Amino acid sequence: MSHLIAPSILSADFANIQRDVEMINNSEADWFHVDIMDGMFVPNISFGFPVIKAIKKHATKPLDVHLMIVDPDRYLQTFKDAGADILTVHLEACPHLNRTVQAIKALGMKAGVAINPHTPTNLLNDIIEDIDLVCVMSVNPGFGGQKFIENTYRKISALKEIIRATKSKAKIEIDGGVDLNNYRKLLEVGADVLVAGNTVFSSNDPAKTISILKKQIL
Ligand code: DX5
Ligand code: ZN
Repeated sequence: MSHLIAPSILSADFANIQRDVEMINNSEADWFHVDIMDGMFVPNISFGFPVIKAIKKHATKPLDVHLMIVDPDRYLQTFKDAGADILTVHLEACPHLNRTVQAIKALGMKAGVAINPHTPTNLLNDIIEDIDLVCVMSVNPGFGGQKFIENTYRKISALKEIIRATKSKAKIEIDGGVDLNNYRKLLEVGADVLVAGNTVFSSNDPAKTISILKKQIL
């Protein structure tokens, strides 16, 4: 299967959110990447449920919701009700990750687990068979437009091996600093989903940039 592109709404124009959602609807993008930050897990606050609902109202593609929040168990049902199709929690924020993943799936969403740049991939060994997505953070989470961390390539290769050995169906998503210089190499080493915020929304033609990221055939 071809790789997927998930433009990050964090870099959209919030005063023109419907316009930017329609642009993604009409583009070759596959998912909407929706970043939720609580000012505790990460040093930034993004937006909450009313904005997710507003995006959902117009979106014709799945919402890939990335929770950068402490204690996400409190809000799983509310994110489902707001329109999340895929719900990703951070490994570092979940002491009972297996329980959290099962709860996400029981609500009818796909379950993802994100890992920070310093978190070793082998901490996923005993959860990988239960999840649909691993989100590998290729920047320290909290802000769009940061510089890509090169160690990510090595982590993708290691994860690929864990997924192969366990026959897991989990997709590997790369989040942070994805651009037109590094996306080919990311796909080569095994990325399945590319998140792109700044690269898409700061370009002159966002839909064309999405098309370039999508068309790469290896
Ligand atoms: C970072 C967020 C990312 C961010 C990516 O904390 O999780 O999803 O929006 O933005 P770019 O592609 O600009 O690095
Ligand atoms: Zn994200």
